[in-house]
Amino acid sequence: MPSTYLSAAVEIAREAGKILLEEYARPLNITYKGDVDLVTQADRRSEELIVSRLKELFPQHTILAEEGGGQSMHSRFSWYVDPLDGTTNFAHGYPCFSVSIALADAGTLIAGVVFNPLSGELFAAARGEGATLNGKPIRVSKVLELAKSLVCTGFPTHKRQANPNIHYYWDFTLRSHGVRRDGSAALDLAFVAAGRFEGFWEFGLKPWDTAAGVLLVEEAGGRVSSLDGQPYDLGGPSLLATNGLVHEEMLRVAAEIAQRDPSAPFPR
Ligand code: IPD
Ligand code: CA
Ligand code: CA
Repeated sequence: MPSTYLSAAVEIAREAGKILLEEYARPLNITYKGDVDLVTQADRRSEELIVSRLKELFPQHTILAEEGGGQSMHSRFSWYVDPLDGTTNFAHGYPCFSVSIALADAGTLIAGVVFNPLSGELFAAARGEGATLNGKPIRVSKVLELAKSLVCTGFPTHKRQANPNIHYYWDFTLRSHGVRRDGSAALDLAFVAAGRFEGFWEFGLKPWDTAAGVLLVEEAGGRVSSLDGQPYDLGGPSLLATNGLVHEEMLRVAAEIAQRDPSAPFPR
């Protein structure tokens, strides 16, 4: 059953990807939701397409979509839609963004797709059926230690001053092969699932940023929790997704950093 929903999500994500490519080739029409929080015509057009398709196919389902075009229904099924994850990249012509669509059944994620229309990479997962990249099974990496890991993070587009992540960025950079900051949380998670990153963490992500990616990581054999080791709830304050093997080590480092005064200078 999850695979039926997944097929619909895949088809819709590909259609939305076409819209993003069309808009990417045109001059931008940007407005601001917050100080550095952009929204473009691409976000809006992509969301309109995705939401209208989901409503046609599943009129009784709840749809939570970032730009507010969803619907709230009395249903066990809820869709999570990020019509353009990586808007800042998109707006600067930096070629790293995606469409993210996921479905939860009574709170359990059962289908998820993350599509990068520029590279053509489509990551998909259905609960209990594994994760794929362009139809081929993917698994998380086998790296055992943080010191041999490439990891990834992101910073929110609003209230950056209140975000402690710069301290985590600093520390994890010194303890690993490096920290990437690619600007699309959905792709970051898909890359953990595909074994390209050993881990990804971020604070303050929304349900539509993470729903599809979390299922991808779990179905690819990885582990997802909050940064303090609790179960991750969609939209929770922090997220850590790893290959499972470096998870405990990353949690230990995160716990150490959390003890420090966030306003203090970086330790030497
Ligand atoms: C953002 C991206 C980014 C992450 C931000 C998100 P948006 O989503 O996922 O990587 O660091 O926290 O808000 O606004 O481009 O959909
Ligand atoms: Ca997003
Ligand atoms: Ca978005």
